[in-house]
Amino acid sequence: MPIDKNELRRVMGHFATGVTIITTVSASGQMHGLTANAFTSVSLEPPLLLISVDKKAESYPCFEQSKVFTVNVLSDSQEALSRKFAVTGTDKFTGVAFRAGGNGAPIILGSIAHIECRLYAAYDGGDHTLYLGEILEAETREGKPLLFYRGGYRAISD
Ligand SMILES: Cc1cc2nc3c(=O)[nH]c(=O)nc-3n(C[C@H](O)[C@H](O)[C@H](O)COP(=O)(O)O)c2cc1C
Repeated sequence: MPIDKNELRRVMGHFATGVTIITTVSASGQMHGLTANAFTSVSLEPPLLLISVDKKAESYPCFEQSKVFTVNVLSDSQEALSRKFAVTGTDKFTGVAFRAGGNGAPIILGSIAHIECRLYAAYDGGDHTLYLGEILEAETREGKPLLFYRGGYRAISD
């Protein structure tokens, strides 16, 4: 029998992660962003990373169309932003400090790192699509990461 969806979510939640906002922008300039923790480094040569985007997400069609995205790694003071970008159908960028990156996608100010990518490959991942991004630019800033563990936000306490 296949594992129950809620049980799967509960078990996977035992893997502690950082939290990112992945941004992209359409040809007409419409910005999109979603909170995501399915993110990993993949390759140094060429420099590649992996994200996984829900096919039902409002921002989903923009990834294939724009062929660019930026991963913004959130700081422990950006929990409210994480919550905001995890809700579909709101005007997510209103009141948010950001600037356009070299690839055109928004860079969220105050994040502890951002990694600008262009789409390198896409793979079917069931109800998600796995996108490999080729890293074009990357930068870090001081700060502690926002963490996600067992369905809740956490912070490093040291
Ligand atoms: C901590 C956390 C991690 C998430 N990780 C992902 C992810 O990796 N991929 C994804 O597609 N959705 C993820 N989500 C859900 C999206 O943020 C959510 O579905 C969002 O509303 C999508 O935005 P959109 O519909 O405006 O594109 C995550 C949500 C939270 C709170």
